[in-house]
Amino acid sequence: MKFFVDTADVSDIRSLAETGLLDGVTTNPSLIAKAGRPMVEVVKEICDITPGPVSAEVTATDYDGMMREGEYLGRIAPNVVIKLPLTEAGLRACKHMVNNGVMVNVTLCFSAAQALLAAKAGATFISPFVGRLDDIGQDGMKLIADTVQIYRNYPALKTEVLVASIRHPIHLIEAAKMGAHVATIPPAVIRTLYKHPLTDRGLESFLADWKKTGQSIL
Ligand code: G3P
Repeated sequence: MKFFVDTADVSDIRSLAETGLLDGVTTNPSLIAKAGRPMVEVVKEICDITPGPVSAEVTATDYDGMMREGEYLGRIAPNVVIKLPLTEAGLRACKHMVNNGVMVNVTLCFSAAQALLAAKAGATFISPFVGRLDDIGQDGMKLIADTVQIYRNYPALKTEVLVASIRHPIHLIEAAKMGAHVATIPPAVIRTLYKHPLTDRGLESFLADWKKTGQSIL
């Protein structure tokens, strides 16, 4: 499973990339606003940090505007993925961009029908939002299970399921068990993945016992 980080915070991305476990980055207009910096500058820096796919989202809502913004964002770096909303205009733009060799991440997916449409439009990635469905009392993980199953039924569909709006490690583990290709994870959730109280306690007692021996490895 590929791990992307869902942030536009360059220093967070830099430190997570140093682990060698980061496969890509996703941003959205809200994350760019949170970073408080010009979008193009931020996306360029992120693309310099990671060679993996970096999603940059258009803000136009009409087809022509999306095509123009997509072309502009695509010039930032070869690893930019154009993020388009799951609307009729968005999927029309997706089809056109993919036909021209551009990578596309279709975002704001909340139903299996939408996921199927995005795959038919040739999207490189589909982003179903699990946390936001849970927030309104629906089952976000059911959407992942349905999408993975539908795509598996049609091997000609090459779209990768990119699980988005992840709120906690259980979302990630359930998605991995279902065989989702990618998870985009907030930095704080990535850091919790390392943590287990028995790891901390075990390390503490190993080091205490080691100290008693009076030895040092080097
Ligand atoms: O980037 C898209 C998605 O991951 C947003 O997550 O937490 O704002 O629902 P969230």
